[in-house]
Amino acid sequence: MDQNNHRVFVSFIFMMCHLILFTCSIFAPQQAEARAFFVFGDSLVDNGNNNYLLTTARADAPPYGIDYPTRRPTGRFSNGLNIPDLLSERIGSEPTLPYLSPQLNGEALLVGANFASAGIGILNDTGIQFINIIRITQQLQYFEQYQQRVSALIGEEEAQRLVNEALVLITLGGNDFVNNYFLVPFSARSRQFALPDYVVYLISEYRKILVRLYELGSRRVLVTGTGPIGCAPAELAQRSRAGECAQDLQQAVDLFNPQLVQLLNQLNSEIGSDVFIAANTNPMSFDFVSNPQAYGFVTSKVACCGQGPYNGIGLCTALSNLCPNRELYAFWDPFHPTEKANRIIVERIVTGSIEYMNPMNLSTILLLDSKKT
Ligand SMILES: *[C@@H]1O[C@H](CO)[C@@H](O)[C@H](O)[C@H]1NC(C)=O
Ligand SMILES: *[C@@H]1O[C@H](CO)[C@@H](O)[C@H](O)[C@H]1NC(C)=O
Repeated sequence: MDQNNHRVFVSFIFMMCHLILFTCSIFAPQQAEARAFFVFGDSLVDNGNNNYLLTTARADAPPYGIDYPTRRPTGRFSNGLNIPDLLSERIGSEPTLPYLSPQLNGEALLVGANFASAGIGILNDTGIQFINIIRITQQLQYFEQYQQRVSALIGEEEAQRLVNEALVLITLGGNDFVNNYFLVPFSARSRQFALPDYVVYLISEYRKILVRLYELGSRRVLVTGTGPIGCAPAELAQRSRAGECAQDLQQAVDLFNPQLVQLLNQLNSEIGSDVFIAANTNPMSFDFVSNPQAYGFVTSKVACCGQGPYNGIGLCTALSNLCPNRELYAFWDPFHPTEKANRIIVERIVTGSIEYMNPMNLSTILLLDSKKT
């Protein structure tokens, strides 16, 4: 009892400290406590940019967001929080606002921004069926524009520092397979390239994107590989006979991820610093995909929200089957993990061993960077 009271008191004090820091940081933005956070990529990390676009790749209708703190859809492709939200939590920040949000103004800019857009890939021709989405080159142009806006707010030097000290997350590649090469049989890209050559091409294009991120001032960049896309309910529904993961897609993942890690190592040695950190999301997710019960899931094959075999056909809408308890499912919709699964992934990003995080995990990064300032 006593100890409980003590704990409540301590957490109260702790909360007050946070409030005070928060208040201070509003009035003295250059001393903001948490580092800024920037997010680039696809639907796995989109916080709602596509809500502002004419596209079918949107998640701003129920039941999306059913477990979000507001219980409302936000544009996140999840029942609740997504990976960037959980990373924001870990660095002590508010969730990143979508760059297109009208609320991203003034002091809110100092928290960072989310440039991600569902449907995009490394290549410009990935996701063309979604029509109006923010391709990666455009995301990088918005990042430049963002920096000009922050410079106008706190001066060029401080803005530069904010960007240099920020944490960056980029998630790309899955759509270049799912929504391009393997989208239809005999797709243009699959007629142009054998799979191994396509992967080499993707990696060479990804290199340019990462170099540009560095040129724009990024100095700590988490780069996720692609997850086990062949095991997503959508692929099981379309390509699997007995619930086994789709082999061609898993082969793509097995080619792509190691070459990505190699690319990041190369870039780091050229730069002479560990700027790029590989977050190997394939083994992170494969653990609970191959052994869901060990993680408290009843299944990793059936999506919580959807229809048809494995709930893997079509979109998740108000008319879909919906599971009552999202904690028991690894996949929320035919392609995207539940908040529960995202938490497992983020835990590995923060504390994972070298098998998951190369050359180091986020807790090590945060520790190293806190010593610098
Ligand atoms: C993709 O489009 C952008 C902008 O239109 C262009 O600058 C870039 O070179 C294109 N990338 C490729 C690989 O064609
Ligand atoms: C990851 O984080 C843990 C602490 O949570 C640490 O003990 C471990 O050494 C780290 N591993 C790597 C590879 O950085």
